[in-house]
Amino acid sequence: MKNIERIPTHVAIIMDGNGRWAKAQGKERYEGHIEGVDSVRECIKAALSSGVRYLTLYAFSTENWGRPIEEVDALMELFCKSVIAETPELTKQGVKVVMIGRRDRFSERVRSHLQSIEQATASGNRLTLVLAFDYSSREEITTAVQAIAHRVAAGEIAVEDICETTIAQSLYTAAIPDPDFIIRTSGECRLSNFLLWQASYAEMYFPEVMWPDFKQEQFIEALEVYASRERRYGKL
Ligand code: FPP
Repeated sequence: MKNIERIPTHVAIIMDGNGRWAKAQGKERYEGHIEGVDSVRECIKAALSSGVRYLTLYAFSTENWGRPIEEVDALMELFCKSVIAETPELTKQGVKVVMIGRRDRFSERVRSHLQSIEQATASGNRLTLVLAFDYSSREEITTAVQAIAHRVAAGEIAVEDICETTIAQSLYTAAIPDPDFIIRTSGECRLSNFLLWQASYAEMYFPEVMWPDFKQEQFIEALEVYASRERRYGKL
């Protein structure tokens, strides 16, 4: 692998374009999602080999519940299958899987698969794979505000003591550093309710390539783009 000067600690990806990729090949949308799982596998490998420590993937947004029931069911089935198939290799490679998002709307079966992969991989210490499932950043922030308001009402903290850290520690991502680099495939240039608080200083990259075509090579190319950027955090 090429020597890249500056590797981001945390890469977050909006995996977009599965449906368009499938349509362009005269395939069903579902086949785009299947090929998308291969891209997930490839990006995990590339993250491991390049020294990225956190990889967050936007796998299912809260808005995705609005898709036709057949597609939602097919995605849930694919998540369950992938979790079963990939758990041994992820464990072996030292990948710790954690979920961010709501859990109460999933079926018992999906919930138990998500829980079992988190438990099986809990001791992984090479890469943390953060899967955003039924995730909405606005909902995450709203829930955090409610939790803080309850603490104020209970007399645990004073309003004046609420600071950025109080908020950051009340989000799903409390134990995860902010992303350094956010990638959205398929050429769309939007965050679509993904990590809005956490993205404050992230570099962004919007390659035209559809998610099923985003493999190890494209991941490494993206890291090169990141290495070429200068981050100033508002300073000179
Ligand atoms: C966006 O493409 C993709 C999704 C909504 C689902 C992403 C899911 C996977 C890649 C499957 C596996 C993930 C894991 C973690 C096992 P789109 O359907 O919005 O594409 P379009 O914009 O072209 O219609």
